[in-house]
Amino acid sequence: MALQTDSPFLAAATGRRVRHTPVWFMRQAGRSLPEYRAIRGEGSILEAITRPEVAAEITLQPYRRYGVDAAVLFSDIVVPAHAVGFGIDVAPGTGPVAERPLRSAADLDRLRSLQAEDVDYVARTVELVVAELPAEVPVLAFAGAPFTIASYLIEGRPSRTYQHTKALMHSDEVLWHRLMEHLAAMSLEFIDIQLRHGARAFQLFDSWAGALSDADYRRFVAPHTRTVFDELAVRHPDVAGIGFGIGCDHLLEAMHEAMTAIPGRPVVMGLDWRTPIAAARRRLGPDLVVQGNLDPALVLAGTEVALAGAEAVLADNDSHPGHIFNLGHGVQPDTDPEVLAAVVELVHERTAP
Ligand code: CP3
Repeated sequence: MALQTDSPFLAAATGRRVRHTPVWFMRQAGRSLPEYRAIRGEGSILEAITRPEVAAEITLQPYRRYGVDAAVLFSDIVVPAHAVGFGIDVAPGTGPVAERPLRSAADLDRLRSLQAEDVDYVARTVELVVAELPAEVPVLAFAGAPFTIASYLIEGRPSRTYQHTKALMHSDEVLWHRLMEHLAAMSLEFIDIQLRHGARAFQLFDSWAGALSDADYRRFVAPHTRTVFDELAVRHPDVAGIGFGIGCDHLLEAMHEAMTAIPGRPVVMGLDWRTPIAAARRRLGPDLVVQGNLDPALVLAGTEVALAGAEAVLADNDSHPGHIFNLGHGVQPDTDPEVLAAVVELVHERTAP
């Protein structure tokens, strides 16, 4: 087996020099790929995820097409809540929907703790993918962070205002923290299962945390995000953890603190396109390892615009070793795969010594 240092992704995630800057894309598997649409079939994505052969094939598709440096498991952030029987599904074109949203202490009963058997298909998928990939290309585990999952369970559907979520956290702080403790345990168990079956780094998606003020994030969310990072640092001290949210520039310090309470474990700060890489390093330290952050909209604007955008991201990073190239959010379904292929090629070429 190749040494960890042979893996551009794993080397960059720990801030070491790499033979080229590693690239992967959030939502790299999905509707932008014709081979995904061909294999995915009808029905809920949650059903497709329960079929390991299908899920493994979909996970590998972007690796084969783009030569990306990591394969993110084909799964979804609502898989654990669905697997314990909360009653949540993913509606095509909409996102996660719960028929009976969580609004009271009694609703917590529908959120029993996650057991490995609940998601045995996920463990099997990881194993199948690991067996297909060269040792230098790691499988990335992921889970939704407690706040982002809470927002779906409480709102019952995607939201712009998070009014029910914010009302609950401010009106019943005891219930809020009980819920968040449950969700932190669920997220960390879900990631732990993926790591135990062969994934070698993880990303915690707190996609919608940017809706909160810094004060509310620190009081209602950070302690629970911290639980996930702390407990995984204890169980897997060498495994790098990536934290990510959209529109979280104002939360950067608070998020980073929640990720780094246990010193010594490798962490990666995921940035969306609003936060310049250089600014993040000025605020959080010159050795900060970052992931990002090409605006996914630029990829929709054609090859020339996308490549100019990718060059600007590389210039912003200024040859610093701790950089994992990604978009600032997920690949949009209308994205032309040829444009993403050109971005991967450019990043690999420009950063090779
Ligand atoms: O390639 C990858 O990144 C791997 C798979 C992945 C999916 N979802 C598969 C998926 C990942 C990492 C996710 C994470 C996820 N899911 C997030 C966090 C990332 C982010 O975008 O901020 C969130 C918020 C969700 C919830 C979710 N699931 C939404 C909002 C949607 C879109 C609904 C739609 O149809 O537009 C989904 C569905 C989903 N998850 C799809 C895929 C490939 C597309 C729909 C399908 O094929 O049925």
